[in-house]
Amino acid sequence: MDREELHEEGRGSGMSRRGIILAGGAGTRLHPLTRAVSKQLLPVYDKPMIYYPLSTLLEAGIREILIITTPHEQVLFRRLLGSGEQWGVQLSYAKQAHPGGLAEALLIAEPFLEGHPSALILGDNIFYGDPLNSLLESASRRARGASIFGYYVSDPTAYGVAEFSADGRVIGLEEKPSTPRSNYAVTGLYFYDERASKLAATLKPSKRGELEITDLNRLYLERDELHLERLGRGIAWLDTGRPDHLLQAAAFIQTLQERQGLRVACPEEIAFRKGWIDRQQLRELAGSLRNTSYGDYLHALSERGDELVV
Ligand code: DAU
Repeated sequence: MDREELHEEGRGSGMSRRGIILAGGAGTRLHPLTRAVSKQLLPVYDKPMIYYPLSTLLEAGIREILIITTPHEQVLFRRLLGSGEQWGVQLSYAKQAHPGGLAEALLIAEPFLEGHPSALILGDNIFYGDPLNSLLESASRRARGASIFGYYVSDPTAYGVAEFSADGRVIGLEEKPSTPRSNYAVTGLYFYDERASKLAATLKPSKRGELEITDLNRLYLERDELHLERLGRGIAWLDTGRPDHLLQAAAFIQTLQERQGLRVACPEEIAFRKGWIDRQQLRELAGSLRNTSYGDYLHALSERGDELVV
């Protein structure tokens, strides 16, 4: 499908939502692991970390995605993911010169978005579980405002944190508070309407010198246009910010995959199940990964038929 056809798809229901994966940053908290390679290229069990947020966007039905990386590592992300054509999607690339904050992604993405609504996901955020897909689809259908996701964690001090009124409405957001007003961390997945880039352009750098995503979300909150969806305890939102968390995430994925014999965050499978590639294309992708368990999985999927859709 070429760019024009993809655009046509979105026109019936207003403008189609475009995705942004922010995969830059200095990764200093994981040094020396990330001294020579981007955090988002590190393995989480059997695939590079960026496969997980990429799959989250694909599951949400988003097929035009911009990947923002550090300038010198763009070549590595391109080598890994290519144009996206192999999965029936379109991947574009942009560079972030310095880690100027998460909200800068909306400024860098402005020419790519061309006035479309967006979904921004951090390249190190891993989501898993039911009913994640239906939550994503309903957030994606919301034309006006911003949607963010709250997740109950034991220690929210390292995150953006939501504050709620007695009747459960979100009334405040704070970035890394020392005294959090709830246990709900704001995850690194944000759905915005077409105003996000313009609003991001009005932000001033915070004390740590960054354009904060929490400040952008607060602009929507002040306009009474911020929706917070709580992710229930049946959903996993995993952290990859420290070596121990990275290992836990890998163990989680391994446990699930071995128990079920189904792969988590497999773009080829998502594309096939969504009908973006056909059986023959899946077979060819399996062939290109011959002699790996990942390739064997794709091969089995291409032979099996559709009866095993879960
Ligand atoms: O993971 C969710 C949290 O992400 C939210 O709860 C916080 O509100 C939000 O500020 C952010 O907090 P972090 O402290 O985790 O952000 P960090 O600076 O670690 O950046 C997150 C990822 O984004 C990381 O993989 C690097 C990348 N990044 C970061 C910055 C600041 C960029 O690509 N460019 C940047 O300019």
